[in-house]
Amino acid sequence: MLLLAQKIGIKSVSFERLSSKSGSPGRLHARQRRPRSSSASWPVLEWPDRQFQIGKPLEASTAWRVSERAAVDSDDALFVVGDALDVASKLRGKGYESSVKIVYLDPPFFSKEDYVHEARLDGHASGRVVRTDAFADRWGGSDVIAYLEMLGPRLEAATNLLRRDGTIWLHLDYRAAYFARMLLDEIMGPRAFINEIVWRRAPNLGRQAASHQFGRTLDTILVYGGPDARLLPPTRLEPIEESAIRFDDEGRPFTAAPRGDYTDASIVKLAAEGRVHTTASGKVYIKYFLVKNAGDVWCRERRVDALWTDVPPLRHVSASERTGYPTQKPLALLERIIASASKPGELVVDLFAGSGTTGEAAYRLGRRFILGDLGAVSRATARARLLRAGAPLKIISEPGPIAPEPVVASIERDLVQSKVTLTSPEDPLCWTVGAIDGEVYVTHWHAARSLGVRGKGTAMTSSGLDLTSAITVRAYADDGRVWQSHLDASPR
Ligand SMILES: C[S@@+](CC[C@H](N)C(=O)[O-])C[C@H]1O[C@@H](n2cnc3c(N)ncnc32)[C@H](O)[C@@H]1O
Repeated sequence: MLLLAQKIGIKSVSFERLSSKSGSPGRLHARQRRPRSSSASWPVLEWPDRQFQIGKPLEASTAWRVSERAAVDSDDALFVVGDALDVASKLRGKGYESSVKIVYLDPPFFSKEDYVHEARLDGHASGRVVRTDAFADRWGGSDVIAYLEMLGPRLEAATNLLRRDGTIWLHLDYRAAYFARMLLDEIMGPRAFINEIVWRRAPNLGRQAASHQFGRTLDTILVYGGPDARLLPPTRLEPIEESAIRFDDEGRPFTAAPRGDYTDASIVKLAAEGRVHTTASGKVYIKYFLVKNAGDVWCRERRVDALWTDVPPLRHVSASERTGYPTQKPLALLERIIASASKPGELVVDLFAGSGTTGEAAYRLGRRFILGDLGAVSRATARARLLRAGAPLKIISEPGPIAPEPVVASIERDLVQSKVTLTSPEDPLCWTVGAIDGEVYVTHWHAARSLGVRGKGTAMTSSGLDLTSAITVRAYADDGRVWQSHLDASPR
């Protein structure tokens, strides 16, 4: 614990164990622990036979096996297959501790549900659908305790990856966010708390609206940071009613708001910038100059606060973004997080990566990323998605099994180029043309099934390839199966 406390410099996370007076069996309760170094105390979540204790050093694993990579050999876009704790220990073994700017975690929410991936082969509205079990969010008999025993160590391992100016973003909902907040207080210290962001993830419709309670349409994102963490929230344009628009002497439109908690000194400064409006009765208002939005409406630019109602739910984003992975988050949500907490080139980690949203958002914004997930469907979905996005993806895992049936593909060549046509399996999630280099499969060309558009039939062709020697064609299914064939592509 001392190590963690030294690394992120928060003394109050160094808690003393209390003499145990355990709660009633099967019940959780909050008790007070006294930090060693001061008289201040902070409640800590206790539960019967609690195994998770902060400060147990995580073993550093040196197991690091590359199973697939892009032709460009880079460590900027990694997917590490495995349980979040194992992935964290691998990252520790590779020296990634204290080097990560953002950790985003979107673990199971304690929903007690099973989640199914839906691949819509003929477009998003109709046609053939392939359903595959993606992951289960079920925790057995003493379920909340099993859930906390899973979450606690993974949270702690994830926080150990952070730099002093790094932040962790933990995405949950009403079911577990209140426990998680106490766990993060315990792990990082209450002073590391930065925000509790509320994201409206769905409109209040249907079952929710008729449920005789206020619709549970919100997710919670807890943000904690190291001592040097600073966020830069973006601004958004808020339309202003015409009746509230005024014009200054130079004809510039503005709206005015009461001075609020601006000090006299700030008012003097704002007045020098021409931003103070004094009414006939002598009241002081602050001027906010207006800009037009894309719809030609005058707007005030406002800094985004912790209530996010302007990031549309996944069901409202374009079909080309929806991978069919259950619980997929919108790119806009991850882009907002990454842009407000990191700079280009910095490292973003997600240990519950699912469809790979964090990776795609990080790649689009020029950040490096490391994703982890234990699910075969997650790996398949994220691989197809990240290859489609153009990321130089490298997968760290033991080599997986190859399906017994071969890929059926043929090569045609003319004087300058070759083309490879895949006829079986039909409608793979993605397929690649590459080569085996030792134990690593190196992808030179790839194609992924288009999202949200009708399938193009069975034969899938790559053209314009420059093939000179043996190639290995692979096809990947939504459920994680991999087919492969080696073809001789040498010129005759
Ligand atoms: C809510 S989903 C993440 C969705 C993701 N944010 C997206 O946008 O697609 C949770 C993910 O956690 C994975 N998962 C569950 N338990 C895990 C564990 N112990 N270690 C690593 N991944 C785990 C599941 O396979 C699932 O993909």
